[in-house]
Amino acid sequence: MRKFLLVLAVGMGLVMGCGKKSDDVKIGVYASLTGNTATFGESMRKGIELAFEEINAQGGLLGKKVRLIVEDDQSKPEEAKTAVVKLIKRDRVVAVLGEVASSRSLAGAPECQRSSVPMVTPASTNPKVTEIGDYIFRVCFIDPFQGEVMAKFAYQTLGLRRVAVFTDVKNDYSVGLANYFEKTFLELGGKIIGEESYSEGDIEFRAQLTTIKSQKPEAIFIPGYYTEVGLIARQARELGFQGPLLGGDGWDSPKTVEIGGSAVEGCFFSNHYASDDPASVVQDFIRSFKEKYGEVPDAMAVLGYDAARVLADAIHRASSFQGAKIREALAQTKGYEGVSGRVTIDQNRNARKAAVVLKIENGRVKFFKRVEP
Ligand code: PHE
Repeated sequence: MRKFLLVLAVGMGLVMGCGKKSDDVKIGVYASLTGNTATFGESMRKGIELAFEEINAQGGLLGKKVRLIVEDDQSKPEEAKTAVVKLIKRDRVVAVLGEVASSRSLAGAPECQRSSVPMVTPASTNPKVTEIGDYIFRVCFIDPFQGEVMAKFAYQTLGLRRVAVFTDVKNDYSVGLANYFEKTFLELGGKIIGEESYSEGDIEFRAQLTTIKSQKPEAIFIPGYYTEVGLIARQARELGFQGPLLGGDGWDSPKTVEIGGSAVEGCFFSNHYASDDPASVVQDFIRSFKEKYGEVPDAMAVLGYDAARVLADAIHRASSFQGAKIREALAQTKGYEGVSGRVTIDQNRNARKAAVVLKIENGRVKFFKRVEP
């Protein structure tokens, strides 16, 4: 009997608890909180949480408090798909934010599209992501632009003519960015000498780097993620390669310098934001982020924040939590002033935005150049 009463009490508590929560509106987040690229997911989550903390403090969305449901995909595409299915079917979220990595957004997006749940990726730059369908949006630039930025930077700014490319073949972002870089670099009159590849999770790169070095390139373009990039840089230096290493936004993690150390000194990569940008929107955001988390945000934190804000703005304009209405409002986003720049969603549901080139100097990542679209 006592046991029965206890179960009853717990049951009623749950029901009442749920009753209270009906004033909430649920937004789903899928992120790599663990695994190979855990700093990507953690940073994005922090940016998104900060945004909704501010939004909730100002009364929430359409009179409801936002409750974030965050799913860890362990940095794996298969898990990303499962995470999105859970968010949609189990939690019945009204919209989804995520992922950072293109390969994982490509796994999650079809589920959102199928269920007519709008998805906004903060940071996936591969063009195929938003091509999945009309419910899929992004608040960042795409890799044809990013590749062109780095190819022009290599050719025009650094005056390089012979560049090798080292690609992560299992990573859609890496393969895409390598191609776009090569295309522009060749068009400009440069030569790609040496195209080698590796796979995410590898720790030994000396064989490919030895081949690359023997072809005597002036620089190596490595469109990969921070874990491998740091190791590749160290092994390249060990083998005596002294030229600059170049990369894209996948380098953006405190771990690049932590793992790469002196091997990444003097290297350059393109990104969405520079923490030493003096603009007040940027510095104000850095201040609130530091207050909450005690650290300087990286690009994924900034883009997570902007994605959350753009979604909230669309829900306000839609005056509805219906997927189709939110989708419509997202598609009409124009001139939204984000921390990472102004966001206007184009007809392909992408954002045309400026990129920055950053330089690693004395163990710090510094603004070097800004490139408008
Ligand atoms: N652009 C990368 C991708 O599409 C992800 C990324 C964004 C990584 C921003 C770091 C910073 O896979």
